[in-house]
Amino acid sequence: MTEREQSAGGGPRPVALITGASSGLGAEFARALGPRGYDLLLVARRRKRLEIMAAEAAVKHGVTAEILVADLSDAADLQRVVERARAISDIRILVNAAGFGLHGAFSEVDVEREMDMVRLHVEACVQLTHAVLPAMLKAQRGSVINVASLGAYVPLPGFATYGATKAYMVSFSRSLAIELEGTGVRIQALCPGFTRTEFQNQQGADLSLVPKFMWMAPDQVVASSLQALDKGQVVCVPGVLNRIAARLAGPLGGVVQRRVAAQSGWRTPPGKAAAEPTPAEESKPR
Ligand SMILES: NC(=O)c1ccc[n+]([C@@H]2O[C@H](COP(=O)([O-])OP(=O)(O)OC[C@H]3O[C@@H](n4cnc5c(N)ncnc54)[C@H](OP(=O)(O)O)[C@@H]3O)[C@@H](O)[C@H]2O)c1
Repeated sequence: MTEREQSAGGGPRPVALITGASSGLGAEFARALGPRGYDLLLVARRRKRLEIMAAEAAVKHGVTAEILVADLSDAADLQRVVERARAISDIRILVNAAGFGLHGAFSEVDVEREMDMVRLHVEACVQLTHAVLPAMLKAQRGSVINVASLGAYVPLPGFATYGATKAYMVSFSRSLAIELEGTGVRIQALCPGFTRTEFQNQQGADLSLVPKFMWMAPDQVVASSLQALDKGQVVCVPGVLNRIAARLAGPLGGVVQRRVAAQSGWRTPPGKAAAEPTPAEESKPR
């Protein structure tokens, strides 16, 4: 284990393990948690970016930052990160932020990329959470933040696997939150809406029609997440408009699905832009 600097209180500083720390929300968590007194364990694939993040944390906040270059959709790389996480006894925060989006009709997308997404959003999140919990439970403190998405609320056509993996992260976090009640360990599913990061460069959908007021900056999202964590909120949807959207997703989800399908050129029979089917309708044989 690397030697870490002593905190003002004399002991070693607790560690924040952040995946996806080379850009966007993960990088912003690193910028926010360093000044809060954490050393950093930064994980992503782009070494140079991680080195810059580590140097920035050291210079600006006197933080010791270790980097682990790993592709978390690769089993051997994930295992390496899991082993490193198990070896550090004082990981106080785990942020599962590594992720990416893919847009396209499911029948036409590269299924291996979809499987990479499942491995990254689901498997890495489960494995890393499982790796850090024993030490957190022993210490009776610690937090896990799973960066899901507002997309978990409305299963959008064109993002079938993405939305499903994010819904998994929310469900997983909500279950664990109950299991962990009274242990001192907190868990949060963070569900951001449109956030200006590198995410949009890769996911392939045209978001130029999304109005400016719907966008948030990554530092706003992270501030909202950490505030919610302090209050013990299990699901954090940053931004008033996103919270309204999350509320409306149940009753209006079906309409939104059809609208997005129509805009994307998927088949939408005229007059079918109706409300979500009731459970009884859904269970009817087709
Ligand atoms: N931006 C949004 O509008 C938005 C909205 C809702 C939810 N989210 C979620 O927020 C999370 C962070 O995304 P972001 O917006 O910050 O996008 P971003 O700027 O593209 O950051 C994604 C991060 O994930 C890392 N990553 C991607 N694939 C990886 C892999 N196979 N192994 C390890 N690291 C990997 C990337 O690093 P490397 O390329 O260096 O590996 C990068 O650090 C994602 O889970 C995304 O689903 C984003």
